[in-house]
Formats: sequence, structure tokens, C-alpha cells
Amino acid sequence: MFEKLETLPPDPILGVAVAFREDRSPDKVDLSIGVYKDRSGVTPVMRAVQKAERALIEAQDTKVYLPPSGAPGFRESIFSLVMGDGAAGLRSRAAVIQAPGGCGALRLGAELIHRAAPAARVLMSDPTWPNHGPLLSGGGLQAGQHRYFDALAHRLTLQPMLDALEAAAPGTVVLLQASCHNPTGVEPDQAQWHQILDVVASRRLVPYFDIAYQGLGDDLDFDAWPVREAARRIPEILVALSCSKNFGLYRERTGALVVIGEDAGRVKAVESQANRAARSMYSMPPGHGGLIVERILTDPTLEADWRAELATMAARLRSLRELLAAAITASRPGFDASWLTRQRGMFSLLGISADAVRQLREAHHIYMGLDSRINVAGLNEDNVERVARLVAPHLAG
Ligand code: LMR
Repeated sequence: MFEKLETLPPDPILGVAVAFREDRSPDKVDLSIGVYKDRSGVTPVMRAVQKAERALIEAQDTKVYLPPSGAPGFRESIFSLVMGDGAAGLRSRAAVIQAPGGCGALRLGAELIHRAAPAARVLMSDPTWPNHGPLLSGGGLQAGQHRYFDALAHRLTLQPMLDALEAAAPGTVVLLQASCHNPTGVEPDQAQWHQILDVVASRRLVPYFDIAYQGLGDDLDFDAWPVREAARRIPEILVALSCSKNFGLYRERTGALVVIGEDAGRVKAVESQANRAARSMYSMPPGHGGLIVERILTDPTLEADWRAELATMAARLRSLRELLAAAITASRPGFDASWLTRQRGMFSLLGISADAVRQLREAHHIYMGLDSRINVAGLNEDNVERVARLVAPHLAG
């Protein structure tokens, strides 16, 4: 049966992380997979997570299945975290379905859209996270892309994006990364978001937000603002959210799909269809991560500590951007690397060639995506100058 199957090349992101792990050089630097790292290169278990997890293990007396839509307390608290002050007003027309991570949520949303509109198209930014296409087309959607990024200027190309949205047929789904765009780090500002949402509303497109980095850009409210603004203006929106990065719960696969519909009746149908789709893929979500998040967000002391630690992580990402830009300019006087400091979140696209990326890896043990995406969290005060010195000659401009 399997004799015709070919071995596939490694995943563009996970494969680099595996190669890094196998590298024995003491000089190795991992700028590949998007996980937060502290100064010593460790991805920590957040303090509030440690406490909540201990309390959860003490208190739990069963491992019985969660309900199909997930843990009720998790669903309520994560909905409030994303929607902020508007959450209560929206709740009656929102379905919130716990999912196995942001990937599980994205896929579940695609399955749901496909059930509602079998010929649905989805438009994504070019470039986007390499798993967006497989997740959404795997769910049955026809995927297309619109221009988003000027690689030489390291900037958003808003007009081509608006033109593509203007040209899209009503009902087209538009995948929008709420903040900390993966892989460019380039986000629309609020005025640009208004322009995007104006076209989405006037063309009757369906916004599908991916929010995987809430709190790691500017802050929890600022990073979720585009989702909240869309929910205020547009009757139907979808949101796939992840707790991997902002709670550091990567391997617990914790996320949710939120669907805001025009009225409570439609939302009931949406939830039942999403649950049926989940049942045919993984039955129901894993519980542990969601129960940890619920404990944190329903305990004011834990929540305050989590917010404080998250803010420190976001500040570190911003300061690493400053450090890298300064170190590049120091090693290449006159070169303007300030775009790094205007971008947000973990990622930036350096815009260097695949050959240069390979050379950095083979000769200098510096690992990044072949598209030259870097995760700035892999930098620290000890390696940033060396990385800047080796990368700077390859940068265009
Ligand atoms: C990334 O973009 O590196 C992360 O979201 C991890 C992943 O699953 O690709």
C-alpha cells in the first residue's frame, strides 16, 4: 500500500529546529522556530503556569472527557481576553470552541467554512506563515494570496492588498493576522486597519483572524484591537486563537475558534457543525492547557503575575530588535536597519538569499528559515554582535 509514497523534505520551520538540535557547536544560534526564549536560550514555563498547573494537579479528581466545545471556564475567560470590554455584549452571538492549539482552531474554522460554503475562497498575505495554506486548503478552502510586503523597503504594501480585497467576490474569506505578522513582523497601523476593514465591510468579505501572539507585540489590548474593531463593525467574523506563545503552552496544544455570527440562532448551528467537524478529526480538544489558562484568568493574583511576565517578554523582544538594529549599523556604518525596530513580535524577514542563509548555517551555525525569517527571541546580549556582523554584509540596501 505505501510503496508509492515518497519521503517528504523536512517541514520548512520544524525541520530547521531539528537540525539545530543536532548541531553540537557551542556557537550555534537558533533564530528559527517561533518560540520565546529567555537570555539563556531557554523557553521557560511561565511562573503563573507553574502555579496553576500544580494547583490543577492537586485538585483534579478525574480525567473524564471534556464537553465537545471544551472546558466552559476556559472558553469564557479566553473569549474575554481576546474581545476585551466588548466581550459581554458579543457573547450571545458568539460560538467559542476549544481546539488543539492555533493550528487546530485554524483547521476547524476552515472545515466549518467549507460546510457553510463548499466553494469558498480564502485570501492570505504573501508571504504568510507556511502552514496557513495547508491548514486552510486541507479544510477544503481554495487558497489565494495578495501582496502584503515590500521586501526591499521592509514595509507593508497596503494598496495592492486593498486592490485585491476590492476585486474579491462577496463571501471571500480574508485571513488577517491580528498582530506580530508571521513571517514579516510588519503590521498595519490603526488607520490602515480602518482602510482594510472598510473594504472588507463594503465588499461583504468574511474576516478570519489568526491571533497567535496577543501580548507579545505592544500589549494585550493593542494587539487584539483589530479583532475587536472588526467585531464592532462587521456582523460575521472568525477568530483562531492560540495560547502557545502568550501562555508558553506550546506542547499542550491550547487554542480556540471563535465565530461571531449575526444572531444567537446562527451561532447555535455554527457550534453544532464545528463540534461535528471536530468529532470526525480528533473528537474533542485536550484539557490540560485550557484548564491551566482558565485557572490563571480566573485568579486575580495569578492573572496579574502572568500579565507582568508577558509584558516583560514583549519588552525583551522589542529591546532585542533595538540591539540587533544597532549592532548591524555598528558593523555596517550608514546602513539603516531601523525597520527592525518598527516591526513587532518574534519575526522579521531579513530579505537575504537562500544561499546566504545556507552559508550562515553551514559555516557559522546560525539557523533561520530558508526565506530568511528570524525569530529575534533567539538573540541575546552575548550573540547579537556576532550575528549582526555575519548577517550585515548580506542585507540589501
Ligand atoms: C513558527 O511560525 O515558527 C511557529 O508558529 C511554530 C510553527 O508551528 O511553525
